[in-house]
This record gives sequence, structure tokens and C-alpha cells, in this order.
Amino acid sequence: MDSLVTLLGRFHPLVVHLPIGILFLLAIVEVFTWFPRFPRIPDRVRTLILIVAAISAITASTFGWLLARGGEYDAAILDRHRYLGIAATVLAVGMLVFHRMRWQRTYTVLWISALAVLSLAGHYGGSLTHGSDYLAFHFGNGAPVADLTKVTVFDGAVHPILEQRCFACHGASKSNGELRYDSWEALEKGGKNGPSFKAGNSAGSLMIQRAHLPLEAKEHMPPKGKPQLSENELSLLEWWIDSGASRDLKLANADMPSYITEMLVGRFPGLRPPVPERAASLASAVELEGKLGVMIRPLAVDSPWFSANARQSGSSFGDTQLESLAPVALALTSLDLGETDVTDEGLKALVAMKNLRRLSLDRTRITDAGLRNLSGLKYLEYLNVHTTAVTDAGLVALKPLKQLRSLYVWQTKVTPAAVEGLSSQLVDHRRIRRLEDKIADLENEIRNQQFNANFGIRSGPAAKPSEKPHARETVSATTASPPLQP
Ligand code: HEC
Repeated sequence: MDSLVTLLGRFHPLVVHLPIGILFLLAIVEVFTWFPRFPRIPDRVRTLILIVAAISAITASTFGWLLARGGEYDAAILDRHRYLGIAATVLAVGMLVFHRMRWQRTYTVLWISALAVLSLAGHYGGSLTHGSDYLAFHFGNGAPVADLTKVTVFDGAVHPILEQRCFACHGASKSNGELRYDSWEALEKGGKNGPSFKAGNSAGSLMIQRAHLPLEAKEHMPPKGKPQLSENELSLLEWWIDSGASRDLKLANADMPSYITEMLVGRFPGLRPPVPERAASLASAVELEGKLGVMIRPLAVDSPWFSANARQSGSSFGDTQLESLAPVALALTSLDLGETDVTDEGLKALVAMKNLRRLSLDRTRITDAGLRNLSGLKYLEYLNVHTTAVTDAGLVALKPLKQLRSLYVWQTKVTPAAVEGLSSQLVDHRRIRRLEDKIADLENEIRNQQFNANFGIRSGPAAKPSEKPHARETVSATTASPPLQP
């Protein structure tokens, strides 16, 4: 039954054009009859036309009502569309009635009003269907933008989220809580409780606080039943606020975590590093392999990315050899210089290797000074400096490496406290905590799907009454584990 209702609702956009077409055509003909040379419409013909118009308008309204029940539409626009649609139907029926009663003037007023109402209803209906890609919103919508120096983070990333998730109630059509987000000035001003964001402090920002309230809470934003901010959208808003809520910061200069880059890359392909040309890299790699005796291979058969390994060459591989890797610098994602003769001076060559993800420098003569050359390697995930002269001071250079997740400091002077400090800079503990919450929710969901039979306490090996409750406790103990950071 429900699916039939839904199905009928889907016919609304189709059926609705019938009364619209009839009423517009009728109006055109009525205008022409004002000219003496044009023949009058026979009364019976007009009655027939009006009956068809009224019946189809009622049908379209009914289907529209069914459609609205099931869909997630923008409430403000839907309301307008609904009332205008009903008004148009009433007018159509009224036209039939007054025509039959021969109240010519009233009939004329009604059909002119019907035209106006239909045009408006159609306008809002259009914005409704446009608005329904809200649900499928992602940044891939819209033409790709190449020049990242022209687009601000606010315009390219923040504004679209607010537009999709908040404008319906905090925009031109409505300003709930005296709050509007549809211009920078309004956003800065905030609502009746003041500004929605505090630059540099997302946790203290009203909009973020409200988004984090439980869905059931009255003040949760967007309100329950409306399209919600996704985990990533919320993270993006937080990141933007925490990084200073700048209006002018350009995408080209923004230092975004990779999951945010991934969200935006459909719209802004330039956020990914340009892919080096494989054939050229391969030719250079073959030549360098022959010359230096190191291994330089693509990561996979058809990959444009390469790894280089000089470990086997030992002390015959030094700064000069490292420098000669320049032709493949951008193609390298993995470089093993462990046990070679490279020094701090030679590490200057790494500045050009912007796409490196893995780097091993263990058992070399490098020191803190050399690590300074790494601070531009923003994709670096793995760094091995074990058995080197590196100390806590060297870790400072690693702070900009937002992707760094593994650091090998065995047999160095690096202290656990310094590593702790570094990791708290690199890792977004809030995000981890939220993902943990999500896991807890999913675990709950699984539990809701599971079936438990309880036979009470029975003796014998078959009954282990303690098993289930125990298992539950383990789970809740994990999920309720203390947060990593206050
Ligand atoms: C369906 C309508 C609706 C949507 C969508 C919506 N809000 Fe709201 N919002 C309200 C209403 C109603 C109020 C006022 C009542 C209240 O304070 O809870 C409000 C109030 C607020 C306030 C408090 C303003 C003040 O100063 O008191 C903030 C902040 C806020 N919303 C943020 C957001 C954000 C951020 C989004 C989008 C992610 C959003 N809202 C989407 C309906 C909405």
C-alpha cells in the first residue's frame, strides 16, 4: 500500500503539467475573445475544458500531497509550493463554478489570478526539485575549477556546505534564531545569541556546538528530520574555524588534512599533486639504475609512482648520487636511503621530492639540521631515522607533516615526551573520538539485530550464564574507553 502511495506521488511532476497547460491555453484563448473578430468559445466547450482542468488539478494536488509526505524537501519552500498549489486548484474549481453561474467578471478575475498563482507555484516547485539534490550533495557537483589561487576556502568549501545544510532556515527565505548564513557579513554577525563561530576555536563556536548536540535535542542543528551534516562536512567546518576562519585564504595556500582534500578534489582537481608522466620517469629510472646501481621501480606495473632503494649500495651512495635522482624526484613516493653515506647537506635534494610518502634515513650520518629539509613533504606518512644523531630538536621540523603516522626513533636521542608532543599536533583526536562514537553506534545497531535466547540458569556445560553479560561488558568497556585527550 505504502509503495503504491509513493508510486502515485512520483507522478505529481508529470500530472501537474496537464492543468497548467489547460489553464494557460484557456487564458490565451480568453484574451483573444476580447477582440471582436475572434469567435466566442461555446459555453459547453468552456465547461468541458474547465471540468478537465479542475479534475486534473485536484488529481495533481493529491499526488503532490502524497509526494510531499515521503520526501525530504526544504520545509519552507515546500510549504509555499503546497499552499500555492492548493490555491491554484481552488481557483480552477472556482472558475468552473462561476462560469456555470455566469458570473463573467468573477470568472475573469479568477483566471487571471490562477495564472499568477500557477507561475509562482511552478517557481517554488522548481526550486524544490532543484533542492532535492541536497541529499546527494557532494563537492563533485558543478564544473571542475582549475585555478586554486582564485578560490577561497570559504567560497569553495565552507559556503557550499552552509548553503546545502543551513540556508533553508538561515538564509533569504527564513532566518530562524535571527540567524542568516547567506552572506559573509550576516555569518559574522550571527544570530540572537551572537556570532556562530569563534575564529581559532571550533569547540567554542555555537554552530559547531549545536551540530554536536544529540540528534534528539531541540537545539541540535540541522533539526532532526532535516538533511544532516556528514561527518566530513562537520570536520571541514571545524577545520576551517580552527585554522582561523579566514575569509581570504585561498585553496592553493590552504594546508588541509587529506580527508578534506579528498572531499574537495572532485570539484578542485588541482588539490591532488599533478601526476608525473610515467614514460619519462621510467626512462630516467632505467638510466639511473644503470648508472648508480640502485633500484628505481614503479610501484605497480602501470603506476606513475616509483620507489627507489639505495640501501644495498651502502657507502657508495652519497650526496652526489642522491642529487642525481632529480629527474625522478616528483615520481618518487618511497625512498630508502638507510645505511648509505648521505649527510644533512645531501638531504636538500629531498625538497624537490614533494610526493614522498615513505622515507628511510636510518643508520646514516644525518642530524637535526638535515630534517629541516623535510618540512615541505606534506604527504610523508612514514619516517625512519633510527640509529642517527637526531634529537628532540629535530622533531620541530616534522610538525607541518600532517600525514605523518609512523616515526622510527629507535637508538636516537628523541624522548617519548617530544614524540607525544608531536603526535598531539599531527593527530586530530576529536575526529578519532567521533569515529569511535560511530563505531559504538554501529555496534549498538548490530546488537539490535542479534537474537539472544535465555534459558535462565541451568547446570551443565551447555549453559554458561556468565558468557553473554560478560561479552557485553567487554564491548561497552571498549567503547567507553577514556578519551585520548580532554
Ligand atoms: C529546518 C530548519 C533549520 C535548518 C536546516 C538549520 N537550522 Fe539552525 N535554527 C533553526 C531554528 C528554528 C533556530 C532557532 C531556534 C533555536 O534557537 O533552536 C535555529 C537556530 C540556530 C542557531 C542559534 C542562533 C542563535 O544565535 O540563537 C545556530 C547557531 C544554528 N541554528 C546553526 C545552524 C547550522 C550551522 C545549520 C546548518 C548546518 C542550521 N542551523 C540549519 C532551524 C534550522
